[in-house]
Amino acid sequence: MKYSQDILFSAILLASGTAALKDGVGLKPHMGWSSWNVAQCNAASARYALDTANKFISLGLKDLGYQYINIDDCWSTKNRDGSGKLVPDPSKWPNGIKAVVDQIHGMGLKFGLYGCAGTQTCAGYPGSEGREKSDVAQLVSWGVDFWKYDNCYTPCRQNPRPQTCQNPTANTTQFYAPMRDAIVAANAKETNKLHFNLCNWGRDQVWTWGANYGHSWRMSVDNWGDWASVERIGSSAAGIHQYSAPGGFNDLDMLYIGSSKINENQSKLHFGLWAITKSPLVLGLDLNKISSSHLAIIKNKGLIDINQDPLGKAATTFRPPGAAAPAQGKIYPYWAGPLSDGVVIGLCAGTSAGKYSVNFKDVPGLSDRTYTWKEMFTGQSGSGTSISFDISLHDMRVIKVSTT
Ligand code: GAL
Repeated sequence: MKYSQDILFSAILLASGTAALKDGVGLKPHMGWSSWNVAQCNAASARYALDTANKFISLGLKDLGYQYINIDDCWSTKNRDGSGKLVPDPSKWPNGIKAVVDQIHGMGLKFGLYGCAGTQTCAGYPGSEGREKSDVAQLVSWGVDFWKYDNCYTPCRQNPRPQTCQNPTANTTQFYAPMRDAIVAANAKETNKLHFNLCNWGRDQVWTWGANYGHSWRMSVDNWGDWASVERIGSSAAGIHQYSAPGGFNDLDMLYIGSSKINENQSKLHFGLWAITKSPLVLGLDLNKISSSHLAIIKNKGLIDINQDPLGKAATTFRPPGAAAPAQGKIYPYWAGPLSDGVVIGLCAGTSAGKYSVNFKDVPGLSDRTYTWKEMFTGQSGSGTSISFDISLHDMRVIKVSTT
């Protein structure tokens, strides 16, 4: 009964074109850093949060728009206190959470935490099921700006509930609704609004209902930091581009720039594709260890500007005359999407090195005329009716074509 009410609610909202969370949060894909890929549970500490915040400033990342310092799983103790409150682990947060949030706010940055829709988080810390209002009140009292909400130990036909349920008792929407409602109520009252990030790993086609539940939603299982993950996630972003819009974006998962499992070209394509598909740009790396070439990738202002374009429309694939059809699970060479002052074209050598060319007249949003353009990785620019680039294996070119 509850389930069908939720579906009905979503249908009404969609039909009326109103998203439940139309509260001014997440109008652009969020940018920041998350602790999880850095050192999993060990990085969920005040030390990592403050160190990263300082690095955002000293490395010039804050000036480019990187804003959220997000602490993932394992920040609390394993048990709630006597009144049912979450308890920051004192060995990781010696002065509590609020002191860190205040410091981070003082630096002009934002702070995020992680929770879970089930009884426990994926790493076995307290989940929020049945305690949504009280947990949101706690987040609000600390001044937290971002809440990633996972999908472990949710209601399941197996007993005891496993960490990852393969046979849930209901659609994920039902597990996410109580927290959504608590956040909508809090955001209506507070000036310090929470960004609600749904982490249900793309289950139940979250992109079709995510905008009524959160400000961003993970559309896949994790990015494991290898080329196979970039291929799997990047290729599947093409089919769901239409669901991203200001206020609600497909989240392709944290960036693994700096992973030893991907090379330089793959890192560029990873960042470039996440940028043009309007994914949140959340760094999953230790900023103390970043190489200068990786720093150059994450600081590419041209790509960041494309990602943060106010139109908020994700690029998708297009098929120029004579090009092969997209292959399932592989990164297609030709991508394009609208910008407020032009069109972005992505050329990906996802399966083979070679010369990649397009005539502007074949690109959605462009016509048979001369345009000026600029390529964002090499800085090359020009004007004409077409573009052509030699691209080595797994590398990418991102071209902004001006229409103004
Ligand atoms: C996973 C989630 C990861 C990370 C991890 C923490 O479910 O997809 O991004 O948050 O849990 O345990």
